[in-house]
Amino acid sequence: MDKKISLTGFSSVSVHGGHEQDPMYSHLTPIYAASTFVYDDAEQGMRRFSGKEEGYIYTRWGNPTFTEAENKIAALESFGIPDENGNPLQLKALLHASGMAAITTLMLMNLKSGDKVLSHYSLYGGSEELLTKLLPALGITAIITDLRDLNKAEEAFRNDPAIKMLYIETPANPTIQCVDIEELTQLAKKYNAIVACDNSFATPYLQQPFRYGVDFTVHSTTKFLNGHGTAIGGVLIGKDIEFMKSKAFVTLKTLGGNANPFDAFLLVNGMKTLELRMERHCHNAMDVAHFLENHPAVAGVNYTGLVSHPDYKVALKQMRHPGAMLSFELKKGLPGGVEFMNKLKMCTRTVSLGTCDTLLSHPASMTHYSVPKDAREKYGITDGLIRMSVGIENVQDIIADVDQALE
Ligand SMILES: Cc1ncc(COP(=O)(O)O)c(C=O)c1O
Repeated sequence: MDKKISLTGFSSVSVHGGHEQDPMYSHLTPIYAASTFVYDDAEQGMRRFSGKEEGYIYTRWGNPTFTEAENKIAALESFGIPDENGNPLQLKALLHASGMAAITTLMLMNLKSGDKVLSHYSLYGGSEELLTKLLPALGITAIITDLRDLNKAEEAFRNDPAIKMLYIETPANPTIQCVDIEELTQLAKKYNAIVACDNSFATPYLQQPFRYGVDFTVHSTTKFLNGHGTAIGGVLIGKDIEFMKSKAFVTLKTLGGNANPFDAFLLVNGMKTLELRMERHCHNAMDVAHFLENHPAVAGVNYTGLVSHPDYKVALKQMRHPGAMLSFELKKGLPGGVEFMNKLKMCTRTVSLGTCDTLLSHPASMTHYSVPKDAREKYGITDGLIRMSVGIENVQDIIADVDQALE
């Protein structure tokens, strides 16, 4: 009897999507802590290696616990999206050891010496380093511009036929700037470029880049998808299934950036509560942003949910809610930032984002301490800037802690 029914809700897919009944009838797919898989006989080994028979071979190539995480993410990224024939969009995901490993596979499987990548100037630091410091050694270079300005994007494409990929991250780390996925994808397609989008800050619950025709998405699953800060991980998702099964798979298994079964298990279970967590994260973030906006010690609040934010309209167009990330500027600058961080009692002083607890960082005294003031200010990292990943605690407690630290 076919027990599968078509699931109509996002949370139903987060809970059940990608799950296959375990052969030993374990309720949850176990942590398949095995480096290698066995064959009944030599002929079966031959069939597996030649691809004539599906089955696991070696965990760098795939593992049942990875498969559940991959199929769940693919189901969430494609949830409710039709393909060009009106059928449900099919996607293939490949789990990686980290977000950076997934981004590296994306670049190396698509680009060759002489190719160029067009990207926005606000990007996660690791992605920017990959584009501007490591890939140039292989002859792959980046053109970095302000992709919020479509004219600049079009000018770049017109002037440089070597641009083979548009790489966007929206909302972007650390500025929380948003770029228009739909308009940029249409433009890139006019110039036959591949489009890839880092969807880590939004997650598929808030934003689905495949709705706008992108070719790939990547995630640092370390963040909201895992949701509990328990594992580093990454995923690359593509809609050309054959390409994902061939070139992408070969790139991943040859570079060796595979995930591990324990982290995949944590990710599977984290993703089950994605909708619940994101709803709470986002509602809390909106309340915190309004509180900060009216606080006398705060010079400004950077949250895409506030009408005052320059990317408010783009965020509203492509995101269900404006997200859980915000930053704010303290009037007292560097000493004010240090004092504020030291006074926090419940909220956590740390970098990273996307966990259940509220995380705050002061880039000028932490991540960007060694970067000269004028260099960091070019990226909007001013002395009094505080970055906040708003958690799922009861919002009155978050606000009370921030309020007492601002006194
Ligand atoms: C937007 C974004 N993409 C990618 C990464 C890299 O992910 P990972 O640390 O899992 O390698 C990060 C990490 O902070 C990030 O914020």
